[in-house]
Amino acid sequence: MKTKIRMLLIGMALALPVVTRGATSIGIEGSVHDFSTNSWQSRGAICSPCHDAHNTDVAQSIPLWAHQTTTGPFTPYSSPSLKAAVGTPSGVSLACLSCHDGTVGVNAPIGGLGTNAPVLMASINPAAVIGPDLHTTHPISFTYDANLAAADGGLENPTTYKIGDNKTVITVNTPPVSSAGWQGSSLTGKTIDQAMLFNHRMECGSCHDVHKMDGNAPSSGILVRISGTDSGNRGSLICRTCHIK
Ligand code: HEC
Ligand code: HEC
Ligand code: HEC
Ligand code: HEC
Repeated sequence: MKTKIRMLLIGMALALPVVTRGATSIGIEGSVHDFSTNSWQSRGAICSPCHDAHNTDVAQSIPLWAHQTTTGPFTPYSSPSLKAAVGTPSGVSLACLSCHDGTVGVNAPIGGLGTNAPVLMASINPAAVIGPDLHTTHPISFTYDANLAAADGGLENPTTYKIGDNKTVITVNTPPVSSAGWQGSSLTGKTIDQAMLFNHRMECGSCHDVHKMDGNAPSSGILVRISGTDSGNRGSLICRTCHIK
């Protein structure tokens, strides 16, 4: 009996780091995107590695974008069953990839580095390099609307399905939201379009909240908006929000 309990405790100890992976921390300060104490920038700034008040990128991939923009070149996702029109990354995704495709210095401002050496993602965290080969990553940078949902046949209508709604069609129909509740601003009652899409488009930011403000992003180590387990102790909540599977 004693050994059994000890085994159980060891099992729990091993399981714990996964469960407690992101301690709750709301906001960008102290997060993986807080570069205020990095040696490559002397201003101690939190926002300006990505935004500035003036003279920002004319393309405005994201509001007041002040980082150098990647030019890839990208290989987009494709598959025989894909219905979405997936092209080259744009908008929010282009901003994320300007650090995460590994080709541009994380420390590169708009206008370039001048004589400073680039600090590439691979030198900080090789696992965080996503692309420029995007054919092995979830499709991004395309319009996700009622028409696409109908064409695909296995997706919620993003303009009518609300976070926290029961699922339809499938047998286990409990809502795929975290039993732990939201640590950030509530997503309950918002449609997928309101909570996760950017101008009706699916982007990196549909799943990840870079500022750690929304839903479960404050407690998720990888900043996903919907994480944890549902009332039936099942995970993959974010996937099950959009997909009917
Ligand atoms: C690592 C890059 C990064 C940093 C650092 C960053 N942001 Fe952002 N910000 C983004 C991205 C990407 C978007 C567009 C996606 C989104 O809205 O989530 C954005 C969008 C915004 C928006 C417009 C959308 C909204 O949510 O209202 C505001 C305002 C904003 N950021 C303010 C800030 C401020 C203020 C700071 C510093 C405290 C900051 N950001 C730090 C990347 C960053
Ligand atoms: C200015 C550069 C920059 C931009 C822009 C940026 N990131 Fe990051 N991001 C980083 C760096 C650097 C790290 C790794 C930090 C570390 O591991 O210490 C990181 C870490 C992450 C992580 C956590 C990885 C892990 O293994 O813990 C995720 C998830 C992430 N970023 C997603 C995004 C998304 C999504 C966007 C766009 C909305 C974005 N990032 C925009 C620089 C950036
Ligand atoms: C469909 C939702 C979704 C989209 C879209 C998405 N991600 Fe992720 N991302 C995840 C999930 C879930 C994980 C954690 C599990 C995994 O690694 O597969 C993750 C992990 C990551 C990590 C951490 C990898 C590591 O092992 O440390 C980074 C960095 C990241 N994503 C960046 C991005 C960038 C950049 C984009 C856009 C090109 C993007 N994500 C698009 C859901 C998504
Ligand atoms: C914000 C909504 C959303 C989220 C969250 C989401 N997806 Fe998707 N996913 C889509 C859309 C939209 C498509 C494009 C479907 C199409 O074109 O038929 C897609 C495509 C896919 C595809 C490719 C389908 C094909 O035919 O090639 C797979 C596989 C997939 N998603 C799995 C996942 C997984 C696993 C997760 C969780 C990590 C996830 N999705 C999270 C909306 C989402």
